[in-house]
Amino acid sequence: MRHMKALFVTGVSPMSLTAASADGRARGAASGGAKMSAPNFPFLEIRNLRHSYGQPDESRVQALSLDYMSASRGEAIAVTGPSGSGKTTLLRVLAALIRPTAGEVLFDGRDIFASRGNAASWRAASVGYVFQEMNLMPGFSALENILLTAEVSNVPGAAATERTNYLLRRLGLWDRRDRLPDKLSLGERQRAAVACAVVHSPSVLLADEPTAGLDAENARSVMDILTELCAESRTLLIIATHDEAIKKRLKRVARLQIPRDQNREDLPRVPAESPLPALSS
Ligand SMILES: Nc1ncnc2c1ncn2[C@@H]1O[C@H](COP(=O)(O)OP(=O)(O)OP(=O)(O)O)[C@@H](O)[C@H]1O
Ligand SMILES: [Mg+2]
Repeated sequence: MRHMKALFVTGVSPMSLTAASADGRARGAASGGAKMSAPNFPFLEIRNLRHSYGQPDESRVQALSLDYMSASRGEAIAVTGPSGSGKTTLLRVLAALIRPTAGEVLFDGRDIFASRGNAASWRAASVGYVFQEMNLMPGFSALENILLTAEVSNVPGAAATERTNYLLRRLGLWDRRDRLPDKLSLGERQRAAVACAVVHSPSVLLADEPTAGLDAENARSVMDILTELCAESRTLLIIATHDEAIKKRLKRVARLQIPRDQNREDLPRVPAESPLPALSS
């Protein structure tokens, strides 16, 4: 199954979790015994972040502009903004799936893009991702999808089985565990995608429109699961959403604007009063 690693945004292994907390302890210890104080930088800090898609010689699309944002472990933040304002782009940058055109993303004071190796190890060690377009592998059951994600994230076999079984029960999927994704309802698929994203205990969980297409009850249930699991493990939860219920529920909302210099000049301008052309004339 190792060859499937490239397919995934992988997550933290117990080994790398230990390394991360040991590192935090070491920094605290260095600041001196009883006077030990928290590091004076936030868990996440974003500075002057910009991203444009396209090659330099093509017309580029300015997709994301965010001057500053910081966040602590265990916080839950909704990222909102109109369609095209860069919510998905921001999550992709935070997962180090794309390198931003400009700016810095610091986790625990370290720039994840300082080197190519940094970005890859950041992604492998610390990120869980619920994609906007659902990301279960179609040929595998719900249970296999979760186990595979654990496998590529280097979660040891016994812990992977234990955590997978726990999540299947907690997410109400136990009796659906052997079904292929196309035999699950949308809400069940979304819950299975959440299980895949958290099976390795990421320190950051990025969820892109996790309630899109769900009815109010299923949406609430997905949100309950995301917020509870993240609060328990002090995971930073960042949710890109248009969902008003999520915006109301989360204490922090970061709103993105469509970048001012986004190149929209080539879009055809159609006056609002123009009728939709008839099918036959
Ligand atoms: N791979 C890509 N290549 C070129 N342009 C892209 C690419 N992905 C996104 N864009 C453009 O970047 C801008 C931001 O896109 P993004 O998907 O981040 O927006 P969003 O806020 O997530 O929108 P939505 O609410 O519709 O999901 C949009 O103008 C989009 O057309
Ligand atoms: Mg999006």
